[in-house]
Amino acid sequence: MALEYIDEAPTLEEYKEMRRQVNFMLLSDRIAANALNNAFHITCVRDNGRAVGMIRVLSDGSYANFITDVMVIPEYQHRGIGTEMLRRTMDFMRSTLEEGETIVLYLMSASGKEPFYKKFGFRERPNEVWGAGMSQWLTK
Ligand SMILES: CC(C)(COP(=O)(O)OP(=O)(O)OC[C@H]1O[C@@H](n2cnc3c(N)ncnc32)[C@H](O)[C@@H]1OP(=O)(O)O)[C@@H](O)C(=O)NCCC(=O)NCCS
Repeated sequence: MALEYIDEAPTLEEYKEMRRQVNFMLLSDRIAANALNNAFHITCVRDNGRAVGMIRVLSDGSYANFITDVMVIPEYQHRGIGTEMLRRTMDFMRSTLEEGETIVLYLMSASGKEPFYKKFGFRERPNEVWGAGMSQWLTK
């Protein structure tokens, strides 16, 4: 393995293929291209050039930040790649701060992946302070 963590989007085809491999919803090319082009920060992991994982942050560029598309293709899972992608993303987000500032990081954990995110300080919802996160699919 010659893993590289590159802060650059995968190609549209690579993105669609990684999504397919982890059973994420099929996206139209238009939606997928916009998702890549409009992200605040993307790290793509490559092994000898092949895209094997990625993570995206959507952001107002400041306070509210949403981590999504956290994925490592199955044959590369359980080797620490997901942890390293998230560690780098957290470091990047911290680098946007000045001393004493606070921002929020949101994410929606896939069922059963909560322990993976808890290691980084994410707290499950609902809890004694916060209500449940909520979402829906919107289709036209
Ligand atoms: C969630 C996901 C990104 C994690 O990626 P990953 O590269 O497998 O993550 P890691 O290898 O860093 O950690 C996964 C587990 O492997 C273990 N692990 C890490 N390095 C390891 C190694 N060298 N050898 C064996 N196990 C290892 C870790 O202990 C970890 O276990 P834990 O989750 O119980 O703490 C990946 O499983 C994935 O893409 N899943 C499908 C898509 C998905 O559900 N994404 C999340 C949406 S919220």
